[in-house]
Amino acid sequence: MLTTLLVALIFSVFVLFWQSSLLIAVITGSPIVFASSRAIRDGLRLAGVGPGQTVFDLGCGDARSLIIASREFGAKGIGIDRSIYSYWRARVNVWIHGQSKNVTIMQGDFHKIEKQLAHADFVYLYLLNETLAKIEPWLFQHIGARTVVASLAFSFSHHQPYKTVETTNLAQKTKIRLYRR
Ligand SMILES: C[S@@+](CC[C@H](N)C(=O)[O-])C[C@H]1O[C@@H](n2cnc3c(N)ncnc32)[C@H](O)[C@@H]1O
Repeated sequence: MLTTLLVALIFSVFVLFWQSSLLIAVITGSPIVFASSRAIRDGLRLAGVGPGQTVFDLGCGDARSLIIASREFGAKGIGIDRSIYSYWRARVNVWIHGQSKNVTIMQGDFHKIEKQLAHADFVYLYLLNETLAKIEPWLFQHIGARTVVASLAFSFSHHQPYKTVETTNLAQKTKIRLYRR
């Protein structure tokens, strides 16, 4: 009886934490939606990500992009997400896929890792147009001269993509756009 109550309590706390994280994310204009692996793979392939390179995912969600970059492309991954739910989900996911050596996950606002962006070979983004518009000057100021930025589904306001490819994300046709400084 006591065990059942304890399990029910833990489960309820988890559901409450999970649902409130999703609600906060929607209210703050950054819904937690995870991209399809296929779309991520197309982006990494288009950018020519390879062994030894470093891939950043700003707002990494469940870290799928970094796990694919590490397992299938031999890259190192760095991800950051301000949602505590996404952070833990990413860490557990990385661990389950045995990529803890190659993929680092941090919790917090991605602006705090701006100094590291100069060393990024590839920055992957799946953020709304409004968010991209806000971070555009900051991001292009901090990336390196050869860093490739890929945006899935959404576009920057001022920079023009140098390559675009069609892909399928969440069962819908969309585009991945590549940018440089
Ligand atoms: C649409 S999801 C994308 C998740 C993942 N990158 C993917 O492609 O599946 C956007 C994520 O960005 C995170 N996010 C939005 N703004 C952020 C910020 N300023 N700092 C850190 N994370 C942020 C949200 O918490 C959310 O998990």
